[in-house]
Amino acid sequence: MAVIPVELAGRSYEVRVDSGLLADVAGQCSPLLRKKRVPVVTDANVARHWRETVDAALSAAGFEPRWLVLEAGEGAKSWAVLELVMDWLLAEEVERGDHVLALGGGVIGDLTGFAAAILKRGCGFIQLPTTLLAQVDSSVGGKTAINASAGKNLVGAFHQPSLVLADLDTLTTLPQREMGAGYAEVIKYGILGDRAFFDWCEANGPAVFAGDREAQEYAVTESVKAKARIVAEDERETTGKRALLNLGHTFGHALEAQTGFSERLLHGEGVALGMVLAARYSARRGYITDEDAARVTAAIDAAGLPSEIAALGLNCNGRALADHMLHDKKMDAGTLPFVLLRNIGDAFLDKQVSLEDVAEFLDGELQAH
Ligand SMILES: NC(=O)c1ccc[n+]([C@@H]2O[C@H](COP(=O)([O-])OP(=O)(O)OC[C@H]3O[C@@H](n4cnc5c(N)ncnc54)[C@H](O)[C@@H]3O)[C@@H](O)[C@H]2O)c1
Repeated sequence: MAVIPVELAGRSYEVRVDSGLLADVAGQCSPLLRKKRVPVVTDANVARHWRETVDAALSAAGFEPRWLVLEAGEGAKSWAVLELVMDWLLAEEVERGDHVLALGGGVIGDLTGFAAAILKRGCGFIQLPTTLLAQVDSSVGGKTAINASAGKNLVGAFHQPSLVLADLDTLTTLPQREMGAGYAEVIKYGILGDRAFFDWCEANGPAVFAGDREAQEYAVTESVKAKARIVAEDERETTGKRALLNLGHTFGHALEAQTGFSERLLHGEGVALGMVLAARYSARRGYITDEDAARVTAAIDAAGLPSEIAALGLNCNGRALADHMLHDKKMDAGTLPFVLLRNIGDAFLDKQVSLEDVAEFLDGELQAH
């Protein structure tokens, strides 16, 4: 088992990565569970595959698991579902010192984490991430949120979990497209801060997808280490360090908005395309070579992820995409910082980007390649 500490003054916790963690969930979590009753929030897809394992493990250890099974999908990150979760937690008499288990992908983690942040001014929660994206990204770092009609993740709180158990077994039931979306976040850590890990991803990406357990453990562990390091340095995104994790997100967010945040483009796929665009835009600005931008594109393409926005058939121009960026929550006093590359493995925050220039660049991308 790999154990990665997330070091935060007074709120440090561990991320454990291994196979079989859900089957041992009671043993892993028991020091944190004060009562017999253990509330677990999940979604219908995850429940179909993993409820029995978690239920049996908790029951065998003398706990009484209580289940709230929500409809799967981004729609759960809403005011209406939050209210339902809050009422359920209150009915279950969850108190401040208790822990709620969040069993699922980023949607369940973000929603349950936010509910835990505001229940009686904050109770504990444990992340049991079941998607690759949640294991390498969303379950670590304490960002919790729901969506508002004005945009995604606009209502939320920083609230760190007490423990994260990333069970690699859960990846066996994950649809291939969701694996790809999570893998975009894995390769992101290489592109933004670790060239050797990017090299590893180029060579071992296929093994991760083929279910090679060792490769998966390495990919998840290295990603969590990278995220934990950055979160420990800049928990609340105040120094600019954590903002580097948004590599590909500004372009990606515009593409997600243009496709209506629908199945047409999953979040991770938007990030993958966004990283290609960030690399090419970095080359346009003279920061990296065209060859390095092509290497980023090839690595993303080789993972089966979309790498050309021309292929999306968007039916819009660069200006329309740039306009979506104006509503980005990273807008700061009228400017939008962009994460660009000085090199593969060396990202930086550029606060001097002109959206006019970005729109012109995107016009070219929408037609070319
Ligand atoms: N908090 C953060 O720091 C952070 C970071 C990145 C993304 N996010 C958020 O994460 C969300 C996306 O997360 P996601 O990609 O995990 O989506 P998700 O939670 O919707 O899961 C994707 C799909 O896979 C299913 N699923 C989950 N685990 C499964 C398993 N083991 N087997 C079979 N099916 C399974 C789900 O039911 C769902 O249909 C977005 O809302 C995004 O905003 C948050």
